[in-house]
Formats: sequence, C-alpha cells, structure tokens
Amino acid sequence: MAYFQDEDTYQRLRDLLGQVDQTCGTQSNYLYYLATAASFFSDIVRQLGTAGLTSQEDGKWRRVIVEKPFGRDLESARTLNQNISQVLAENQIYRIDHYLGKETVQNILVFRFGNGIFEHIWNHHYIDHVQITVAETVGVENRGGFYEGVGALRDMVQNHMFQLLATIAMEPPVSFEADAVRDEKSKLFKAIQPLSAEAVLSQTVRGQYGAGSIDDRTLPAYRSESRIAADSSTETYAALKLTIDNWRWANVPFYLRTGKRLPKRVTEIAIQFKPVPSLLFRDTPIDSLTPNFLIIRIQPSEGIHLHFGAKIPGPRVIMSGVEMDFCYTNHFGTNRSTGYETLLYDCAIGDATLFQRSDNVELGWSVVTPILDVWSALPSRGFPNYAAGTWGPIAADTLLARDGRQWRQIK
Ligand code: BG6
Repeated sequence: MAYFQDEDTYQRLRDLLGQVDQTCGTQSNYLYYLATAASFFSDIVRQLGTAGLTSQEDGKWRRVIVEKPFGRDLESARTLNQNISQVLAENQIYRIDHYLGKETVQNILVFRFGNGIFEHIWNHHYIDHVQITVAETVGVENRGGFYEGVGALRDMVQNHMFQLLATIAMEPPVSFEADAVRDEKSKLFKAIQPLSAEAVLSQTVRGQYGAGSIDDRTLPAYRSESRIAADSSTETYAALKLTIDNWRWANVPFYLRTGKRLPKRVTEIAIQFKPVPSLLFRDTPIDSLTPNFLIIRIQPSEGIHLHFGAKIPGPRVIMSGVEMDFCYTNHFGTNRSTGYETLLYDCAIGDATLFQRSDNVELGWSVVTPILDVWSALPSRGFPNYAAGTWGPIAADTLLARDGRQWRQIK
C-alpha cells in the first residue's frame, strides 16, 4: 500500500507530533503542508482526519496548506474541494499560490487603494488596455514528468497570472480582511467573459519551444527534454485576450502571456493609458506620441515605472519616451524573497488573505476549462512554433496586431 494511504503512517505521525508537543511546547497546534503529487491530497486529508489530527477543540488550531495544482480543470477542482471540505472547515484550508506572497504583488493593493492619484484613472475612461507578462528563461528542467501532463495554461495562467489579474482589476474591498478581499476576487473572476469555442480559436495562442539559444547557450527543443514525448502537444507558451464585463473595465482588453525559454526572466503588469484626444503637435516633427505606460515590475528588479513623453531639449519640438522609476532594492534595501516566507508566516498566524478560497479556485478554472477543452479537442499541428530564446509564436503578435496594438518590448 502506498505510504500516504497507509493508516499506520498517520498513527506514527500522531505519536511523533505528541512527542514534539512535549519537548517543544507546541500545544497541539499543527500546520501540515501538502506538497505531494496532487493525486494524494484528498487521501492525505481524509487520513489526517481519521487519525484525529485535524480537530481543533480546546483552542488548538490545525491548518493544512495545499500546494498547486489544485485540480486539473473545473470538475476535478470541485471534487477536490468537496473531498477536503468533508474533513476541514474552509478556515483550516490554505490553498497556496506563491505569487501572492511576493512583495510587489501585495504592494499592488497598497498602490491602488492607498494612493489618491491612481484610483481615479483606474478604469475604461483612461486605460487603453493591460498586458500581463510572465516570461521565464528556464525550460522544464527536471520537471518533465510533471509538466508534460500540465502545460503553461494550468501551470501559470489559472493560478499565478489570474491572481495578478484579480489584484490589478478587482474593486476595492470593504476591508483588508481575508474574506472581503477574496469576495472581490471572486466577483472579478465572475465578470470575465467566458470564451466560446470560436473565441478560444481567435483569442488564445499556444506555443511550444523548439531548439534555440539564450545568451549564447544552445538549448534543446521541449520535445528533446527528459521525460517529454517526442511528439508532445503540451504547450510551453500561452497568450490570451480576456475581457471583463463590468462597469470599470468595459472595452478594456487584458492580454496575458507566459512562456518558458523566452529571452528574459520578467514578470510585469503594463497598463497602457489612452492617448490624448487630439494631436496638438501636428506641424512639428512629432508624428506619433509615445504611449503612456505604468509598469508594475514583479520580478526581477522589483519596482514601479511610469513611462511618458518629454520634449528633447533644443529649439525644435521633438519628443522622447522617458521614465520615472521606483526601485524596491534601491529605496528599501530589501532582500529578495520567493513569496513562500510571507505565506508560511501568514498561515501560522491564521491570516488567509493571501490564500485562495474554494470559490476563487473554481471560478479561475471555469475561465480556463473551455480553453483546455478546445485545445485538447484540436491538438496543435504546428509545434514547435517558437525557438528557445525568442518571444513566443508569431500568432501571439498577431493577437494584438488585430486590435491595432503590440506587446511591450521588454529589454
Ligand atoms: C511554479 C511553476 O508554480 O512557478 C513553474 O510550476 C514556474 O513552472 C514557477 O517556473 C515560477 O515561479 P517564479 O517565482 O520563479 O516566478
């Protein structure tokens, strides 16, 4: 019998925890961290419950952190939620997404709701569109066995990117309390316009990297990596255009892209503002205006940058793009963290604000599942369709070009 399914494992765990209580004075407060294969999550929680390791009488607390992937699609996420909620109350379950522990992601809330200047322009009147990029230079490394059955949409979009999207686009919560914040995230996910099969074909792009190079390092194609099928149809790149059907975001597209083996490691949210209503400088050498961008850089070189146009000094009116920068490390001298440190601490003090509630996860899956359905029904015939070290498939550029836009060039 597998280790996690064996009752004996949990009896031994109970004895061990009893000894730790005696020697370390931990008062029977237990935090379990499930970072196993997802197929074991339900069994482990059930066994912990049967062994009496999840009950919270007499003021002691028992909490369980559940790693991603939380399900593979809407149905499996629902089943997992149902299974674990038979043993645990919602306030004992901490569905972790390490992006929410990143300092810059948390700062989005402070930036938006703690500063008078930005919230007034945070809507369709002033914002043209939003681009969210999570670019990685790494490939699948030694995780082929896991990644092959998952792909970029499940691995990055449904969780990390949707958390960035929700944080940037949700309405102000009534307080900073866990459920108030998570209620607003759920409302936002509900407002994302579901993609029909036709919309999946026109509003999403998938890619898989072929051989290439980054910084003079020659890199193999995804299909040549360890534990990857030679004819794999797993995507290592995904781009999508989403629209949010609510008052604030009417007609403001959100473009999301993520991929492995891209030229740079960078996670950023770029908000492009609408141009001025009339081109005043018509009779000058200025024939087009530099778009105004607010960039929230999540990693690396965490910071916030405002791009705008300025006149180049001299007798003629010539414009150039310039930047106002706030850089975390320069200003606060903070050390980089992965996100996990904050989240483990929050779980130990019982603050679930930065963890996903069951409805948040299911709503995220309900947006992604129609895409997965179409993609699996029509496996891509063109893979590999981008070389390692490039910015992804051409179709991702076309996705924006059709709307008269382009991805921000990240240098
Ligand atoms: C993980 C994904 O959740 O996040 C990985 O499974 C990915 O595929 C990683 O590389 C990225 O995390 P970070 O913090 O390096 O951006």
